[in-house]
Amino acid sequence: MTYAPRIVRRDLHFDMQSDIPRYWLNGDAHQTRYFDALSLMFPDGERFFIDSVRAFRPEIVDDPVLDAAVGGFIGQEAMHSREHLAYNERLERQGVGAFALMDIVREVQDRRARTLPPIGQLAVTICLEHFTAMLADHVLRHHATLQKADPRMAAIWRWHALEETEHKAVAFDVYQRVGGTPFVRWRRRCRAMFWITWLFTYRTWQFMWRLSKADGTRKDWLGWLRLLTFLFVAPAPITRISGQWLKWFLPGFHPWQHDNRGLVEITRREYDKLADA
Ligand SMILES: [Fe+2]
Ligand SMILES: [Fe+2]
Repeated sequence: MTYAPRIVRRDLHFDMQSDIPRYWLNGDAHQTRYFDALSLMFPDGERFFIDSVRAFRPEIVDDPVLDAAVGGFIGQEAMHSREHLAYNERLERQGVGAFALMDIVREVQDRRARTLPPIGQLAVTICLEHFTAMLADHVLRHHATLQKADPRMAAIWRWHALEETEHKAVAFDVYQRVGGTPFVRWRRRCRAMFWITWLFTYRTWQFMWRLSKADGTRKDWLGWLRLLTFLFVAPAPITRISGQWLKWFLPGFHPWQHDNRGLVEITRREYDKLADA
């Protein structure tokens, strides 16, 4: 491990009951729903991450630093799962069929848990953790992304981005310990990344499509164009993470080779204060 930040569970509650605008990001339906689609995947996705890492915990207890990091990882993901469930309940109240979309995620995760061996499940987790880490880095680094968001929604996304960054290497370090020879580990995680990239992209757009039907914005072509501009031109999260995505395929890749400790330290102060309060 190149860097071992203190990974603490911050038991924060974000207010999802109040008068948050339906289209809380830039007043734009499509941009808002892109983030909402991601949120719909989190509660069950993060439970899957926890289970896949926890399955190997007995094998890493001889490394107290990593074991403590795993404890922090589990605590943080459990809090994300809880808060994004509250987030998604708000979407359900909007009448967009949020729970039906969450059911799709749950079925996929259950099937993965039944059909993939534990190491395959861990490989899926490290790929998805790389995605969350890349997007989190973008959110923390490029403030324009959430600048015009409702501040309450910006707060939950920045909190999640902070903690995804803090624990971005935990599942990966467990995988390095238990995944076999360097070649076997590399081959498995590269294959998994191709598969997961396709599935993650497909699922996000599938959810966007369903949400846009519920919103009545499916034929708002300018809205779709604005979303593509947002994703690929400015602030361009997808374009900007492509380099980090490619680096995954290097045999010696490690998440902390992309050193964003500075971002963690700055953002942490804000949320530590909240957690203490
Ligand atoms: Fe998370
Ligand atoms: Fe995570």
